[in-house]
Amino acid sequence: MDWGMQNRLARIIRPRTGKTVMLAVDHGYFQGPTHGLENPRATITPLLPYADAVMLTRGVLRSSIDPKHDTPIVLRVSGGTSMVGEALSNETITTAFEDAVRLNAAGVALSIFVGSPHEQQTLANLSQLVDEGQAIGIPVVAVTAVGRDMVRDARYLGLASRIAAELGAHVVKTYHCDDFHRVVEGCPVPIVIAGGKRCETELDAFKMTSDAIHDGAVGVDMGRNIWQSEHSVPMIKAVRAIVHEGYTPKEALALFGELKAPPKRSPKRKK
Ligand code: 5RP
Repeated sequence: MDWGMQNRLARIIRPRTGKTVMLAVDHGYFQGPTHGLENPRATITPLLPYADAVMLTRGVLRSSIDPKHDTPIVLRVSGGTSMVGEALSNETITTAFEDAVRLNAAGVALSIFVGSPHEQQTLANLSQLVDEGQAIGIPVVAVTAVGRDMVRDARYLGLASRIAAELGAHVVKTYHCDDFHRVVEGCPVPIVIAGGKRCETELDAFKMTSDAIHDGAVGVDMGRNIWQSEHSVPMIKAVRAIVHEGYTPKEALALFGELKAPPKRSPKRKK
């Protein structure tokens, strides 16, 4: 691996711990102004200092992120479909590498839809991105999208993750599931998990994170469980504590509780 590729990967997966907390805020590319991300700048800005990388589209990057921030960018470069259209899987490459370079991206990301009517097209998209990324030293994150119909089990996610790695993805993003260790064992490149829909409780989100790390994931690329929380900064800090510092879910919950508690008011001084 050439220096530039290694350096960009090290900006995403942090060498101190070999782990990463990526913040996923790319949902609007097919969901529009989804709950919690209506105003991308307001949602994302307070979280940026705590994200090892942020995954988003060029539109939100240019419109909503101050270029003075140094959080590495993983640019979502696939899309062209919407949640109200006919087939979510009918994705194309939406952003050229020239623009990814102009935006100083540390990596690019696309979805693959294994088992969908557009499987071949999305796998061809991945292969094309890997060829182009290799040429200029930019790593590719392949997201094993499940669309509406796919079963999120170890057999399916293991299949999709392995295919992504075989086609050259540098990092695979998939979902956590029962027997997740089987997905990790069958995938020879680093895996991060998406958070999925918001969990019922914070503890559930922390357990999912902790289980994924325990099973061999290098981290998370998490969205809704962080920014749909009314306490998004305490949430991302608690997730970081699990991923980078080995906190248990209960310890992370205690930290979350401390961080979200309003500061105690000091009694008024008598004049
Ligand atoms: C959509 C994506 C999202 O980034 C991914 O789903 C992560 O966000 P969340 O934790 O909200 O699931 O890649 O295809």
